[in-house]
Amino acid sequence: MTAPAFNPFDPAFRANPYPFYDELRAHDPVHRSPFGFTVLTRYDDVARTLRGNEFARDIEAHVTPDPNDPRQARRDRLRERIEAGEVAKSILNLDPPDHTRLRRLVSKAFTPTAIERLRPRIQALVDGVLDVAAERGSMELVNELAFPVPFQVISDLLDFPTDRSDDVRDWSQALTASLEPTVDDDGIDAADRASEAMAAYLHEIIEDRRTHLGDDLLSALLQVEDEGDRLSPAELRTFVVLLYVAGHETTVNLIGNGTLALLRHPDQMRRWATDPSLDTNAIDELLRFDGPVQQTVRVPMVDVEYEGVDGSSIVVPKGQLVMTVLGSASHDPAVFDRPNDLLLDRPNANRHLGFAAGVHYCLGASLAKLEASVAITTLIRRFPNLELSGEPGWRDRLTIRGVDRLPLSL
Ligand code: HEM
Repeated sequence: MTAPAFNPFDPAFRANPYPFYDELRAHDPVHRSPFGFTVLTRYDDVARTLRGNEFARDIEAHVTPDPNDPRQARRDRLRERIEAGEVAKSILNLDPPDHTRLRRLVSKAFTPTAIERLRPRIQALVDGVLDVAAERGSMELVNELAFPVPFQVISDLLDFPTDRSDDVRDWSQALTASLEPTVDDDGIDAADRASEAMAAYLHEIIEDRRTHLGDDLLSALLQVEDEGDRLSPAELRTFVVLLYVAGHETTVNLIGNGTLALLRHPDQMRRWATDPSLDTNAIDELLRFDGPVQQTVRVPMVDVEYEGVDGSSIVVPKGQLVMTVLGSASHDPAVFDRPNDLLLDRPNANRHLGFAAGVHYCLGASLAKLEASVAITTLIRRFPNLELSGEPGWRDRLTIRGVDRLPLSL
């Protein structure tokens, strides 16, 4: 048998990584990749790494510099711009105590109660899309529902115009493409250009809002104060870019991948359509089964030890990147019975790691779940004969995994 590998350059791996994860988890769960990082595929190792204080998310500050890594030049450029005060690190790339400070300033807007208030608006948006599709008897789910609804919701929340949604979508895609392990220099340059274009576009809106405060999240962030502490202009801009990108790039895939999973398990879909008591658990199960974010990274700040399959000790040295494969952890048979089956009433579905864990646990989790729940439940209840009317198309991505075309007959 050949040794199992984590090879994001293999199209078969990108098309369906789960059988590869199963192999790695069973035979080489602490896998030294030839790409220079260590790949963790067991639930316990991933959870411990995401939660442990000895691991950093601020890669620029803690990774041992590697001149052969295409990201290194970018890290150096970014460091210079941060030192010049032009940009700020995002909440996602900070460690405590800086992370704690930023997270405290922004978290109030994302509590489950604050988010639940958006339900009627989300429902109205979904109904509007489905009314149009119902007339036609068919729809393409991603472009008609899965992208526009979360995009409109995050734009509403911030009170942003949506007239440049195509540009914003392109910029967001260029930015998230740079998270792929296969990214090359061109991909990194494209992400930098997109980031600058998006920041310039948002800058104007933010500056205008300073003098026209309203009842929206951006106005709240401009005014937020906690024990005399405030967001700096660069912090605010970076946070808004992250919200805008995270606010729709991922949720689109939860709606798309989730609907496809249901279409491939029609008994589960029919059961859910008639049983609203499944609504909360079913969304967790869809996140577990085929979540939009497959992996993230951490850097140990001390040498750390993991256990190999044979009980041997595997030490990852301080400063060497560790990849935590969320999609694999959520399919670990040590935690989930029959992990490759979709079971909407699975008792521990909410232990999935699709939103990561620890201090960086997804800030938008309540919003993403609400949007997906309204979109999917409305779709399957309104159209009991829902079926695929053509081949699904996939974005050829691994870090953020999702369908980009899902033609449906209603
Ligand atoms: C299904 C949809 C979503 C998924 C699967 C998802 C997944 C994740 C994951 C895995 C992380 C942590 C990454 C890490 O630890 O390295 C994260 C962080 C984050 N997410 Fe989400 N996300 C989703 C939707 C959203 C939405 C809708 C928003 C905002 C409107 C959002 C905002 C954020 C923010 C701000 C962080 C950084 C939190 C921090 O560092 O403290 N996400 N998300």
